[in-house]
Amino acid sequence: MTFPESKDFSYFFSQETKSRRPSPLKTCIHHFSNPNLIFLGGGLPLSDYFPWDNLSAESPLPPFSKGIGAPPTGSKDDTLNVAVKKNEKTGNDIPLARALQYGYTHGQPELLDFLRGHTTEIHDMKYSDWDLIASIGNTNSWESTLRIFCDRGDVVLAEEYSFSSSLAACEAQGVITIPVPVDAFGIVPEKLEELLDNWTPGAPKPKLLYTIPTGQNPTGTSLSSERKEAIYRVAQKHDFLIVEDEPYYFLQVGNYIEDLKKREQVYSAPRPTHEEFKKSLVKSFLSCDTDGRVLRLDSFSKILGPGTRLGWITGSKKLLKAYVSLHEVTIQCPSGFTQVLVAGTLHRWGQSGYLDWLIGLRHEYVSKRDHTIDSLAKYLPKTEVFTVVPPVAGMFFTITIDASAHPQFKSKYNSDPAQVENAIYEKVVSRGVLVVPGGWFRTLGQTNPPLPDKSDKSKANEIFFRGTYAAVAPEKLEEGLKRLSNALKEEFGLTN
Ligand SMILES: Cc1ncc(COP(=O)(O)O)c(C=O)c1O
Repeated sequence: MTFPESKDFSYFFSQETKSRRPSPLKTCIHHFSNPNLIFLGGGLPLSDYFPWDNLSAESPLPPFSKGIGAPPTGSKDDTLNVAVKKNEKTGNDIPLARALQYGYTHGQPELLDFLRGHTTEIHDMKYSDWDLIASIGNTNSWESTLRIFCDRGDVVLAEEYSFSSSLAACEAQGVITIPVPVDAFGIVPEKLEELLDNWTPGAPKPKLLYTIPTGQNPTGTSLSSERKEAIYRVAQKHDFLIVEDEPYYFLQVGNYIEDLKKREQVYSAPRPTHEEFKKSLVKSFLSCDTDGRVLRLDSFSKILGPGTRLGWITGSKKLLKAYVSLHEVTIQCPSGFTQVLVAGTLHRWGQSGYLDWLIGLRHEYVSKRDHTIDSLAKYLPKTEVFTVVPPVAGMFFTITIDASAHPQFKSKYNSDPAQVENAIYEKVVSRGVLVVPGGWFRTLGQTNPPLPDKSDKSKANEIFFRGTYAAVAPEKLEEGLKRLSNALKEEFGLTN
């Protein structure tokens, strides 16, 4: 089937992007690999002077039958060797001499080839001129996105609680963030539409929707395929781009099963096949995109390791061009060592081995999520004051609290939920556990002239805390949740 080209959204570009010319030095770099041309054109050090002759690493071997946390023993049954030479091109490896040199702002071709293959396995691309480029992770990809599209005073929509670093990047660039109402399942499409339908005349319209659709940080919510389709239609109607920041996409752990017998049946079922796994994944915004108005930010941080500082951006070639021009004068490219090791490992695992890894990783997070929710059910006081909605993806759980139920809500805290939030925070830390107040993640912003206040007054006394089950071993996790529950009991004067 042939698909049409993406639409041209270059009218969304910032002044900075519109004034950027391709770096002239980068326009001749491709001649460097031409053996018939003597390249005297750039400050490229001779690769003979790179002190590394080869690079090798051991990783576990697909299908990771002992679990993805089992370290490789060195035996050929469970250990894969990645060994890459400086000057030899073998298979899909990236020779070190090339990886450690300047050039390839898009990313090394071998890495991009793997990621393109992965994209066609996972997403249902609906226009012809899509592509992807390497990034140094989603923090950088979002900061680049802001610079590419936004000027000071421009507007970005974001979930009403969102990743604080992403909001801070907006603030520093003078970009206004407008909160979009959410419920326990993420953005509510009808409320998003209502917000835009009632946009104040004369106020700048949003250029971007920034969303963390899966295992949202901090609320832990996940958008369904149906909601994504509906949100996409709103984006078409009101003409803005969607940026999906998806570091947790593959941590889709499914519904929490309370009944231990039923759960055991699910746990002991055979691992899903690759086809079953792919089918179980929620549809991405990328897969809804017929226009080329979605930019997807992926990262290896939660899949392979945050220190890889490696990710990728997928979207239309027309928009990706602007990222390449920006990266030519900012990051240049992700680290060559990282690209060599990650591409070397992934190509040896193959697409199928990588799916095995993702399936294994998801399996780990299912038990972490279940252990967390079980422990909260065991230790949290049985009262409507505290609500926990088991997350279906990601690394985060939240405890929503009715601040007005605090015995000193009026007398000590002046009926101010933020003061109760602060008191709880201090109490939990003093009791030896750290969870973070939801207030730290609030999306705050206002246009000029202002938008009508659509905040849900019935939730005015609601506060929440975000915790993660990713960071510690099971025994410590349970101890932490017990301390948290005891601290809340103490703070609210509860005994059960
Ligand atoms: C929503 C979101 N985006 C981005 C990041 C950072 O990702 P990276 O390590 O790829 O920069 C995080 C990590 O905590 C996150 O939660």
